[in-house]
Amino acid sequence: MSSGVRIAVIGATGAVGKESLEILEERKFPLAHLRLFASKRSAGQSMKCLGRSWKVEELTPDADFSGIDIAFISATDDISREYGPRLAAAGATVIDDSSVFRMDPQVPLVVPEVNPESAHQAQRGIISIPNCTTTPLVMALKPLHEAATLRRVVVTTFQSVSGTGAAAMEELMAQTRALFLFKEPEVKVYPYQIAFNLLPQIGSFSEDGDCSEEIKIVNESRKILDLPQLRITATTVRVPVMRCHCESVNIETEKPLHPDHARELLSAADGVAVQDEPSAGLYPMPLPSTGKDEVFVGRVRADASVPHGLNLWLSSDNLRKGAALNAVQIAQILVKAH
Ligand code: A2P
Repeated sequence: MSSGVRIAVIGATGAVGKESLEILEERKFPLAHLRLFASKRSAGQSMKCLGRSWKVEELTPDADFSGIDIAFISATDDISREYGPRLAAAGATVIDDSSVFRMDPQVPLVVPEVNPESAHQAQRGIISIPNCTTTPLVMALKPLHEAATLRRVVVTTFQSVSGTGAAAMEELMAQTRALFLFKEPEVKVYPYQIAFNLLPQIGSFSEDGDCSEEIKIVNESRKILDLPQLRITATTVRVPVMRCHCESVNIETEKPLHPDHARELLSAADGVAVQDEPSAGLYPMPLPSTGKDEVFVGRVRADASVPHGLNLWLSSDNLRKGAALNAVQIAQILVKAH
């Protein structure tokens, strides 16, 4: 990769794909060549990155993937399932945003601030990035665990529509417009109207009544933190917010952990910023977190209902740290190692 890196972005025209191009540009990524892939309907479009225009190609099974060093995939699970192994077989290291490979023991699940060393253990040529709620959660949990040992975690998420993709963002706008014009809002992406509503369902339900997003948070957090027995439970909620996910996090620790100490630990953690002056109206929210790299944490306070309990609230840009930024940071780790 000495003369630059040959990158492919699969799903380049999507919400995360577009963000990836911006982040490659912001970080002045040492790009030698860029290939952009999307569906037939986007083929031929031009997209800008690092001062050049690049043509979008249609993703087809007979596409020639040779010569690609790193491929970012952020499209659908089916596309990851089909094209992840193909790209890896053609010699690329795949950084995949889907849930397809995350729990595969041969596939590292990487958050650079938490377990960067795992990025070098891609036995199948594939590295997964976590669900967009897991990433900020483990970034906040890691320093607290190192100081006081987690006993139990209870998390409730408030997830924006951009986590579902560009079509869901359009739907929230269209429904809002329709309602202000006293028209019936059209419901296509979610099972119910999302404008002026919230949905306590993300993904499909298991027999036990958990939805798939809740199961992902539990399993992925255990894998990344290397705490297979961690007691953790989640409730995931879709809210009518365009961008950024928030989480209410309640933890119990083995050792006492004062809120002031927790704030210090969080302030010192890579990629985490504390915003916690509630009396001055300072706490994390989706709008000010938009376009930011950090995971913002606030409302840090004792939970007096258990011996060593703590409540926190966090906000993070799901398209950046929750997806594209995390993926580009992993690519930077790989490039640095060469
Ligand atoms: P396209 O824009 O051509 O539909 P989002 O998560 O924002 O919905 O984006 C999904 C991304 O995955 C888009 O770039 C989309 O391309 C791409 N994509 C979806 N389905 C396919 C497909 N069958 N083949 C190739 N790309 C796809």
